[in-house]
Amino acid sequence: MRRFEGLTVLLTGATGGFGRRTAERLAADGARLVLSDIDMGSLEKLAAELPTETALLAGDISQESLSEALADVAVSRFGRLDIAINNAGVAQSFVKLPQVPSDEARRIIDIDLLGVFYAMKHQIPVMERQFRVDGAHSAIVNIASVAGLAGAPRLSVYAAAKHGVVGLTRSAASEYATRGIRVNAVCPSFARTQMVGDFVKLAGGNEQEAHTELTRGVPMKRVAEVDEVVEVILFAADPKNSFMTGHTLSVDGGITAI
Ligand SMILES: NC(=O)c1ccc[n+]([C@@H]2O[C@H](COP(=O)([O-])OP(=O)(O)OC[C@H]3O[C@@H](n4cnc5c(N)ncnc54)[C@H](O)[C@@H]3O)[C@@H](O)[C@H]2O)c1
Repeated sequence: MRRFEGLTVLLTGATGGFGRRTAERLAADGARLVLSDIDMGSLEKLAAELPTETALLAGDISQESLSEALADVAVSRFGRLDIAINNAGVAQSFVKLPQVPSDEARRIIDIDLLGVFYAMKHQIPVMERQFRVDGAHSAIVNIASVAGLAGAPRLSVYAAAKHGVVGLTRSAASEYATRGIRVNAVCPSFARTQMVGDFVKLAGGNEQEAHTELTRGVPMKRVAEVDEVVEVILFAADPKNSFMTGHTLSVDGGITAI
């Protein structure tokens, strides 16, 4: 039997770097997918390439109504929600704290922190109901960051949001540990996705300087490949990984080891 055979997985930020690859791997491993991102056209294009059943919903994750609708769609379309991967997120301008425009700070918190809160708020009751009814176990995987585990110079608000995601993860993990719901966070350092491109742009466009900045303090002296991060997302989601909850999995080339 394939690793995620017959399971319903909800994935946000589905057409981005980690999202797309995660969707491809889950589909190949037998999952049915509820996919969400901002742009419906990109979602449809992705779904057309996946060898599985999909339900698509476009919208802004900073609006609670999207998360409510996503949990509803999982149930109405597939009858259940087994795994949720809360992955949508945005980068911030690469500047010191006083230079972060307050409107931008609010936007980062709205998307990167409250977006995950709204998602969990509507996913947990569905999962808990399944546990009550048939003892089913489920899993939530939040994509945080190494910036959620330690300070991140020139990424202060992003770091605050990702620390918040770690706080939500640990708290909900302990609240639902006896209710069949595992909650873990994956904490990547920089990986080769559009988000790194965005950091380069937000840092003023000097790619070499940005790359030096991004790999400073990384023992492996490189950024991650997307597949190296997706492997850990799938590990956290895998039902066989049944005793791990409230954990933060660093995928960071050794940053947090020193
Ligand atoms: N790439 C990295 O280096 C890195 C490192 C650490 C953590 N992360 C985290 O990984 C996650 C995925 O990032 P990625 O690298 O794949 O970036 P990405 O930019 O390729 O993908 C992010 C996706 O989220 C979507 N999104 C953004 N704002 C949204 C909103 N308001 N509503 C709905 N969808 C929205 C985007 O459309 C995009 O498809 C993010 O939470 C990010 O913070 C990334």
